[in-house]
Amino acid sequence: MIFDTHVHYDDQAFDEDREVLLGRLKEEGIDTVVNIGASIRTSKSTLKLAEQYPFIYAAIGVHPNETAELNEQYLDWLRDAAKHPRVVAIGEIGLDYYWKEPDREIQKFWFARQLDLAKEVHLPVVIHSRDAAQDTLDIMKEHAPHEAGGVIHCFSYGKELAKEYLDMGFYIGIGGVVTFKNAKKLKEVVESMPMDRMVLETDCPYLSPEPLRGKRNSSLHLSYVVKAVSEIKGISQEVVMEITSANACRLYHFAPGQGFRAPEQSPLTERNCPIDGTEIGKSPEDHRDY
Ligand code: NI
Repeated sequence: MIFDTHVHYDDQAFDEDREVLLGRLKEEGIDTVVNIGASIRTSKSTLKLAEQYPFIYAAIGVHPNETAELNEQYLDWLRDAAKHPRVVAIGEIGLDYYWKEPDREIQKFWFARQLDLAKEVHLPVVIHSRDAAQDTLDIMKEHAPHEAGGVIHCFSYGKELAKEYLDMGFYIGIGGVVTFKNAKKLKEVVESMPMDRMVLETDCPYLSPEPLRGKRNSSLHLSYVVKAVSEIKGISQEVVMEITSANACRLYHFAPGQGFRAPEQSPLTERNCPIDGTEIGKSPEDHRDY
């Protein structure tokens, strides 16, 4: 059982064999995936996928490098679409200074607005941050934490910054990069962070793990990430899958019964955690040792 917290199965890289691939996920142990929107267009295609497949849920939002398209009307559309029963998060939103466009001020403005939107609709956030550590943290501190929390996806900073986000209550998304030989910084983050705040993600079709680096990624390749994490943490692969799946249920506010309270008025309080097992009801403190 694996919960892939960040996928882009609406990407054209999957046009050729999407149906066949998605049909295989269950039998390969992938229980649940959250498809992530990165623009208005892909938020719409994400919703479509989530309506089509019972194990696919949706996050909707506009990626920092796409924020030039945003305006009040589109923000209203996002607010409305967030009420859709398959939507579990607002994202991916954030800051990306690796690319020059759009202007940093535009990115910052719409990042803050979408954080506020998430707060308004009681949904967690999926954060994308690259080469923008300080600005991301400043805006998050001003506009977060809100009660629904969220995840820092494809975490690319050091362990000190990881601690800041952990202290704010956020989850850290770990994917293919942890298998790269030169990923010393991320391996340190994994080593030092508590297991109860880690979720697995592919970001597919991007970021395939070693030894498939450069090829199209999919949730089927998460086993390499599970193996890398189990080696760093010195725990079994089964335990990695079990804990990260339970974490993902908490992150996206699937109601697991005991030990977890969804935020007040959350539209998600009635949703059931799709992962079986008694671990899920345990409080995070039970896993502090890893
Ligand atoms: Ni992504």
